[in-house]
Amino acid sequence: MTEPTKFTLTEDRIPTHWVNLLPDLPGEPLPPLNPGTMQPAGPDDLTPIFPMALIGQEVSTDPVVEIPDAVREVYKLWRPTPLFRAHRLERELDTPARIYYKYEGVSPAGSHKPNSAVAQAYANKEAGVERLVTETGAGQWGSALALASSLFGLECLVYMVGASYDQKPYRRAMMESWGATVIRSPSDTTESGRSQAAHPTGSLGIAISEAVEVAANDAGTNYALGSVLNHVCLHQTVIGQEALAQMEMAGDEPDVVVGCVGGGSNFAGMTFPFIRRVLGGEARTRFVAAEPAACPTLTRGVYHYDFGDTVGLTPLMPMYTLGHDFVPPPVHAGGLRYHGDSPIVCALVKEGLVEARAYRQNETFEAALRFARTEAILPAPEPAHAIRAVIEEAEAAKQAGEQRVILLNLCGHGHFDMSAYEAYLAGKLEDPEFSEADMQAALERLPDAPAIA
Ligand SMILES: Cc1ncc(COP(=O)(O)O)c(C=O)c1O
Repeated sequence: MTEPTKFTLTEDRIPTHWVNLLPDLPGEPLPPLNPGTMQPAGPDDLTPIFPMALIGQEVSTDPVVEIPDAVREVYKLWRPTPLFRAHRLERELDTPARIYYKYEGVSPAGSHKPNSAVAQAYANKEAGVERLVTETGAGQWGSALALASSLFGLECLVYMVGASYDQKPYRRAMMESWGATVIRSPSDTTESGRSQAAHPTGSLGIAISEAVEVAANDAGTNYALGSVLNHVCLHQTVIGQEALAQMEMAGDEPDVVVGCVGGGSNFAGMTFPFIRRVLGGEARTRFVAAEPAACPTLTRGVYHYDFGDTVGLTPLMPMYTLGHDFVPPPVHAGGLRYHGDSPIVCALVKEGLVEARAYRQNETFEAALRFARTEAILPAPEPAHAIRAVIEEAEAAKQAGEQRVILLNLCGHGHFDMSAYEAYLAGKLEDPEFSEADMQAALERLPDAPAIA
């Protein structure tokens, strides 16, 4: 009998709860800080831009949080997502490793991002909000929020990072098709945007400043963030819970789980349910986070309180940061161009539970094409970083003669990233790296916030 390629679950197996890893972490969680006072930020600091339901999820210490029925109903449009065994890639690599990948690209927007967008749009609709405003790097989050807003009857305004706006015109058309308004960032529609006109390629940090400014100044508009925050990581844990059940169907236990990290949400979503088992002494899984050498927050950043945005409007979070006003070079993995990361993911790296690795642009596209030419799916440039790490793991297993089981979160497809593939195939992609001088400049720009022990 041949071994199966695909492991699928029926709709009734869509998780009923999200997994909250906050209570599992050792020690007291470090609070966010108010940007004005540098004192711990409370719910009042967040109510101008977020609904109470999401603030409650942000600070919840319950081990699980129930998923509202209306959100599970929408999840049925594409969840549960399939888990594949990468037989062809294994053969190409001639490795004894068994490689599995969970494919989030089957969502209508093409990535994992709608898992949180739907939950956020629902919570805002319930709170009587009329419009959501956000930023988007790769265009995946903006598409996801445009989709979710249209499903719940909300208006949607998206500040799209300049470099991505130019590289991915069809992402913009997709958002507009779902009824959103899209503005290139930095723009002249906000004070924050006008102050950053010297950085025409933009950055996630700048686009966040623009979106937060709009939300803070308009009572009917709330802000929605596509990554980093605890509640966003929480929403994504449907991925890992399904993967746990699917790995059980496959009769395998992952030795290593791999994902890419921009702000940390797809990585969190896949790994948190597995990490809970490790912290509970039930498993000994390793976790690998892959990021770009051009924006290496986890491998090179400083563990320090920093703003979530460029201009300094958001609360400060404890995280590995390259400095809130660092503008990463315009690499094609636009979703990974963020100066910081989820505080929970950072704490896991700090504790040594997660290993981080940084890759240059060309080596990630080489890995993506190897994947596309064996497994057929054309990955987004972001998970191409994780695929690179998977190939390294599979090659190491071969060297060691080990039957290692590798699980990858393939968090999105690259159908709107063809200009990046075109540039790679034409040999035109550059390999920018974060330099020592960048590092020194980052250290000088850190806010005057309490040091983290
Ligand atoms: C396909 C894809 N993967 C990964 C990311 C990075 O975000 P996160 O680290 O929150 O998953 C993005 C962000 O836009 C994305 O579009």
